[in-house]
Amino acid sequence: MTIRVAAVGDVHMDVDVLGRFRPALDRLPELADVLLLAGDLTRHGTVAEAKCVGEEFGHLAVPVIAVLGNHDHHCDEVPDLVGVLADAGIEVLEGTSTVVGTPGGRLGVAGVKGFGGGFAGRCASEFGEPETKAFVRTTCDAADRLGAALRELDCDVRVALTHYAPVADTLAGEPLEIYPFLGSYLLGQAIDSAPTALAVHGHAHAGTERGLTPGGVRVRNVAHPVIKQAYSVYHLGADPAGA
Ligand SMILES: [Fe+2]
Ligand SMILES: [Fe+2]
Repeated sequence: MTIRVAAVGDVHMDVDVLGRFRPALDRLPELADVLLLAGDLTRHGTVAEAKCVGEEFGHLAVPVIAVLGNHDHHCDEVPDLVGVLADAGIEVLEGTSTVVGTPGGRLGVAGVKGFGGGFAGRCASEFGEPETKAFVRTTCDAADRLGAALRELDCDVRVALTHYAPVADTLAGEPLEIYPFLGSYLLGQAIDSAPTALAVHGHAHAGTERGLTPGGVRVRNVAHPVIKQAYSVYHLGADPAGA
């Protein structure tokens, strides 16, 4: 049996974007069992922009599951944003998970925004100034919560949903100088700590769609400027062992 996962990130909604995605979204239930939104749903994180997200992506015939991105934090209105999205039927994950029943099996989605820090051998470490330690601890905490959420899922197929990238593969095309601000290998380690079938992220607008974690988990950068369509659909096979 197959579970069909649609995903897009970095839609950066505001009034001028309304209508760009909805025609394709109305056809989505024929193509996918769930829609994942990989953060940067808004441009500046305002409630008005979140209402545009709800109008465009809300009340679909399939579950819509999201994480927030750095842009969604910009105006410090996260609780209000999450409330607006919930009113539109969009579930926001942050170090948490949810299970969706589909004809192909039970799909578990664990999500966290994540943070930067860089990739093995070229990453920040928890050393020196308090500001540096706080930065790295933020990433460690996000990775820890993602890993725990993935491992605790009781489902047939696991998917990890983040905004920041868990591997460098899907950053190809971005300037090397900004890799530490685009993701962290700790997120990849968290994904590899459970039998994850797919990892979906956004944030890297100039990156590449396809990558792999060191443990062999498929990674997909679904930032809208990368996939250049309303959403991509990935087909996942349910593990009969229920892993
Ligand atoms: Fe973005
Ligand atoms: Fe972003």
